[in-house]
Amino acid sequence: MRPNKADPHRAGLAGAVALLAALSGAPVAHAETVTRLTFSQAGTVLEVTAPAAGIMRVRLGRGKLPEDASWAVPAATRSVHLPLEVNRSGDIVHLSAPNISARINRRTLRAEILDASGKPLLTDLAGSHEAGFRLRGKLAGADHIFGLGDKTGTFDRKGGAYTMWNSDTYKFTQATDPLYKTIPFFMAVGDRGRAYGVFLDNTWRSTFDFGKTERDVLAISCEGGPIDYYVMSGPAPKDVLQQYAHLTGKPPLMPQWSLGFQQSKWSYKTDAEVRAIAQRLRSERLPADVVYMDIDYQDRARPFTVNRNTFPDVRKLASDLRGQGLRLVLITDPHIANAPGQDYAAYDSGAAQDMFLKLPNGQHYSGDVWPGAAVFPDFSRAPVRRWWGDLYTGFLADGVAGFWNDMNEPSIFNVASKTMPLDVVHRIDSDDFTARRTTHAEMHNVYGQLNSRATYEGLTRLQPDVRPFVLTRATYAGGQRYAATWTGDNASSWQHLKMGIHQLLNLGMSGFSMAGNDVGGYAGEPPSPELLTRWIQVGAFTPLFRAHSETNRPDQEPWIGDAAHVDIRRRAISERYRLMPYLYAAAEENSRTGIPMMRPVFLNFPQVLANGDRLGGSEDQFMLGGDLLVAPSPTMESPGAYKVELPGKGWYNYWTGQRLAGKDEMVTPDSATLPVYVRPGAIIPKQPLVQSTAITPEGRLELHIYPGPNCQGEIYADDGASLAYQRGAYLRQRIRCEETPNGMKVIFEQRQGEWKPWWTGLAIHVHGWAGARSELAPDMSGGVLSISVKE
Ligand code: NOJ
Repeated sequence: MRPNKADPHRAGLAGAVALLAALSGAPVAHAETVTRLTFSQAGTVLEVTAPAAGIMRVRLGRGKLPEDASWAVPAATRSVHLPLEVNRSGDIVHLSAPNISARINRRTLRAEILDASGKPLLTDLAGSHEAGFRLRGKLAGADHIFGLGDKTGTFDRKGGAYTMWNSDTYKFTQATDPLYKTIPFFMAVGDRGRAYGVFLDNTWRSTFDFGKTERDVLAISCEGGPIDYYVMSGPAPKDVLQQYAHLTGKPPLMPQWSLGFQQSKWSYKTDAEVRAIAQRLRSERLPADVVYMDIDYQDRARPFTVNRNTFPDVRKLASDLRGQGLRLVLITDPHIANAPGQDYAAYDSGAAQDMFLKLPNGQHYSGDVWPGAAVFPDFSRAPVRRWWGDLYTGFLADGVAGFWNDMNEPSIFNVASKTMPLDVVHRIDSDDFTARRTTHAEMHNVYGQLNSRATYEGLTRLQPDVRPFVLTRATYAGGQRYAATWTGDNASSWQHLKMGIHQLLNLGMSGFSMAGNDVGGYAGEPPSPELLTRWIQVGAFTPLFRAHSETNRPDQEPWIGDAAHVDIRRRAISERYRLMPYLYAAAEENSRTGIPMMRPVFLNFPQVLANGDRLGGSEDQFMLGGDLLVAPSPTMESPGAYKVELPGKGWYNYWTGQRLAGKDEMVTPDSATLPVYVRPGAIIPKQPLVQSTAITPEGRLELHIYPGPNCQGEIYADDGASLAYQRGAYLRQRIRCEETPNGMKVIFEQRQGEWKPWWTGLAIHVHGWAGARSELAPDMSGGVLSISVKE
């Protein structure tokens, strides 16, 4: 066989020489440069490309390569092919791209992927087609595995096996798998944080085995679809996440109000009830930005309707709430009631335009969900997504601020499979896919992602200068471009609170930064006052801070319980609002870089991994942004003292501002305080307390300086709601500090952007220094401020 096919993308003279050499079968003595290399052997075709520095893509097919199309990686990203330098030695063809290389055995088609220094990452990689396909390879230097979205089990996925099949898993447990989402991406992390990533771009049902069956062996089995995977060479964990974000996209900058406290329940059932919740949040001085309306606002649970008896005037409700600094988010499930001839516009217009999924016999597929019998839009067609997006016209005119796409696995009641039959026919007509019919088996895992995409694109089209807020339950890789997410129907238990942190950390390492879990727990026994309080304290430091609970349970709003608890919860929520400038800067950083807001400690401090198998004692801690480390007890339900291991010396207690004497700290749990620490060298911006992000703070922006090495912080501000920041209406300013013999210099780097922020000046607080005092500074636009504070 010929080692490689003639390639139309060969580059330059070397390529031309090589092409001739390859065609004539003569050995190639020198390096050739190509932009893709295709091998074929015994009917199997393998192609290697490098879509970016540090990323290699491998596709493998029987007879021919699989279709080059994707719901996760945009065509513009896939079509970039960096030059590959090719060297051959015997059967081994070595392909090098910047920061990554591959060695392919042209006879066996076994692959090995190596990092920039030539160190193997994955070895002995082989794909075989049998009942779908199997992909197997050895994981090198993989002490830990993270990713795969919010799957439960253990925080570190090494030694586990996981199935990808989007499922409605009410009251899931630590042992439940599969869950709601399919994000077939993971990151392997080894000594001193050396990391690489693997993404299998395939929507079919699959299983990932990370050394469970065979030690250090990655075994993926998949029921169909393409063998199409990417290896990212890192080398740092953050690099891998940025490489993954390069492939599957960064999240849009969400509206600032979505970082506020969000109050939800299934359901606030009447206009009066929603108003009472809004009123109570305000009278209790519990800062909040959002109230949700769950399925019961609808007429007979029919999406895109309103029960006019219980909600006579949504527009007035939305506008009155806005007057209180609160926004409405409405649920809009994908199931459209199968109700012909009943003046149900969503059904009538969808049926008239042939928008719904059909069985092989050509009839609409109908399954039972909340409205009873329902039909389902075929979101794999661009015209269907457009039609769906337009369904939001009325709610937007009413002033509804955001939308919640639930049940989109899709969930179906009264059937053992909990979803629609696998032979339901989708008619793909979208992106660079060949227009074709396929079955639900291929589209199931991407249904939720395409549902949220239809919503996001619709909102963007209808209100081009407003940042959409979409919350989705099911999704697929790349879905972070369209929606925030939450972990679904958790339970009110201490174990769920702890597991939820691990779920959010892994979601952040799978592209989804804007994520939360139902604060207080959704199902099961209601939370004790202690559990609700601690959950609110922890939730205040997670990206999406939404309290939600199931129907027919006792109330769970933050004012439930005795005054002491309510007071602690109020302080936790208020602190989040004070931290809003820091939080918002982390959200903006995420939208620009793909680095999640909520991070495991090792993401900021890879050195904590130096000691092999353990995560440096940091398994139960997490970081918000680069500077705040949150350290709940590893056994939150029992009040024993515990040790917090901090990455390095000289951290500060966030609440007292005191510098810790040693490296680690023994903590005696105290229900009033959640232990939080600040990186030495942090500069944290904070603002005066407001009850909603809709209220402009008055006075000064506070800069909290925690002296230490690499002393810096960033201010970011814009209007919080529109896309004007993309046109220059933002403010970004880096601030550094340097200690001097009798104090410190605060260096304000040049401002970027033209946005004029709300503050009238800066209030600078230097923490942890003897004799430290606050200094007021003018609004600095590039310059140096000297402060004498040291005694
Ligand atoms: C299931 C969702 O997970 C839950 O959050 C919601 O309250 C119910 N559906 C009712 O809409």
